[in-house]
Amino acid sequence: MSKVDLSVKIGSLTLRNPIMLASGTVGYGNEMSEFTDLNKLGGIVTKSLSLKPRKGNPPQRIVETPAGMLNAIGLANVGVEVFLKEKIPFLKQFNVPLICNIAASTIEEYVECTKILTTEDTIKAFEINVSCPNVKEGGLSFGNNINSVAKITERVRAVTDKPIIIKLSPNVSYIAEFAKIAKENGADAVSAINTLVGTAFNIFTKKPKIFNVNGGLSGPAIKPIALAKVLEISRKVDIPIIGIGGIMNWKDVIEFMIVGSSAVQIGTLNFIDPTAAEKMIKQLEDYCIANKVKKISNLTASFIL
Ligand SMILES: Cc1cc2nc3c(=O)[nH]c(=O)nc-3n(C[C@H](O)[C@H](O)[C@H](O)COP(=O)(O)O)c2cc1C
Repeated sequence: MSKVDLSVKIGSLTLRNPIMLASGTVGYGNEMSEFTDLNKLGGIVTKSLSLKPRKGNPPQRIVETPAGMLNAIGLANVGVEVFLKEKIPFLKQFNVPLICNIAASTIEEYVECTKILTTEDTIKAFEINVSCPNVKEGGLSFGNNINSVAKITERVRAVTDKPIIIKLSPNVSYIAEFAKIAKENGADAVSAINTLVGTAFNIFTKKPKIFNVNGGLSGPAIKPIALAKVLEISRKVDIPIIGIGGIMNWKDVIEFMIVGSSAVQIGTLNFIDPTAAEKMIKQLEDYCIANKVKKISNLTASFIL
């Protein structure tokens, strides 16, 4: 029995600890399960799912940057039908909250995907991706538009009783406004942040290094931005926040919790060390013992300004 209570709550969803794996960085969990015990984690988030399968963008889709990576995968995924038929049976073996991330080109598609997926018991919550910078339709045109975020949240809320997490874009001026509108329209939580728009060019060919030209920047480079966005939401809106962006170690997790996160997601780090997320859990416990924190959830929004 652990001496520290590491459990956290995201609306009605209880996680055994605050460490989740971020969408798009662990597929549907199968490859990751060879490296780490998924049952130890707080939760896993699937790659964004759309109604129909998507091939995504042609290569080059990933480029390394000095402190992170740019990706323009273009939401390649198997689609909801294949996900339910071929991926869910594998995921059913695990006792870890499964959160399905949904992306779409139209509001109707978000609704349709949620309606289909909500019938599956293994899925415990939805993360609605209104913030992907790497697709031509939907993506940021939703995430940057407050009315679209309101409408998507309201319409998805109407078709599921499971917790809804709206994944916010950092590519906006006032992210708290988006968190507020998500809350007003029935979201249980928000996750922040998705990637920041970036690009890279080859100086000899003068061509972009990524086929899509722009990509989404992730990794340690974006951590200070992500922390500022989480803090902004936490000071202005009373809604659970899942902090994401450049988390590289357990200290980053604590920092994200102090500025307002109830839980966190690990993304780019999974490509460097797929065992890192699991290792952090023990380190978080050690920190809590050393600092007399009985419940890790007490750290959420414990900042002193
Ligand atoms: C290769 C790659 C693919 C991603 N795909 C998705 C996706 O399908 N849906 C989504 O909501 N976020 C996606 N993301 C964004 C991550 O979930 C996360 O928000 C972002 O990478 C910031 O966290 P990090 O700095 O820890 O990686 C992706 C990120 C990477 C690096």
